[in-house]
Amino acid sequence: MASLVVVDHPLVQHKLTLMRMRTTPTAEFRRLVREVALLLGYEITRGLALTETEIETPLMTTRAKVLAGKKLCLVSILRAGNGLLDGMLDLLPSARVGHIGLYRDPATLLPVEYYYKVPADIAERPVIVVDPMLATANSAVAAVERVKRDGATDIRFACLLAAPEGVARMTGAHPDVPVYTAAVDQGLNDHGYILPGLGDAGDRIYGTR
Ligand code: PRP
Ligand code: URA
Repeated sequence: MASLVVVDHPLVQHKLTLMRMRTTPTAEFRRLVREVALLLGYEITRGLALTETEIETPLMTTRAKVLAGKKLCLVSILRAGNGLLDGMLDLLPSARVGHIGLYRDPATLLPVEYYYKVPADIAERPVIVVDPMLATANSAVAAVERVKRDGATDIRFACLLAAPEGVARMTGAHPDVPVYTAAVDQGLNDHGYILPGLGDAGDRIYGTR
């Protein structure tokens, strides 16, 4: 059941290359993350269910398609997830939003939760969990476990970059959760960073290093 979708659209690939460059300044990096998030969101939402409703055009009454069911819920893994969240909200302005505060312990690379707030009815909504980097996948696996504990069943995961190790771990732990990424890189270094990667996503989005 596990699926990996690499969004290889030329615009996504071009923007990703600009993000990888060490000389790309913070403001441009942040803008690029937002743009790529919108393009990833377009692919991720391709399979959403539609229903028909009656509307009036200026000329006549007709039946037209609208999204079916409850609005999506975007769940951002803080803090770098908020970069992707902004672009997804440009595409899905009515989406509900949840936040999971996780940071990687630099020694163990295990995620430490410090915040959790999601819509009370998350179980009834399609969920997209967003985080730019799928490295060891410890963070993503924990975030998806957390929303599953609250009853979410229809879940997708979106990132900018993934390591092969992270993809294997995530699809093994959550085979029901499709993973969308702009690229799968070579692998991880000794500190759990993706190579060639783009560095520390949070630091690059927020200019903290
Ligand atoms: C980064 C990134 C992911 C995590 C990925 O967050 O945004 O959440 O690392 O690594 P993993 O797949 O090995 O878990 P970080 O812990 O640096 O926190 P930040 O977003 O606050 O910068
Ligand atoms: N987190 C990041 O921000 N970058 C990586 O390469 C790995 C984890």
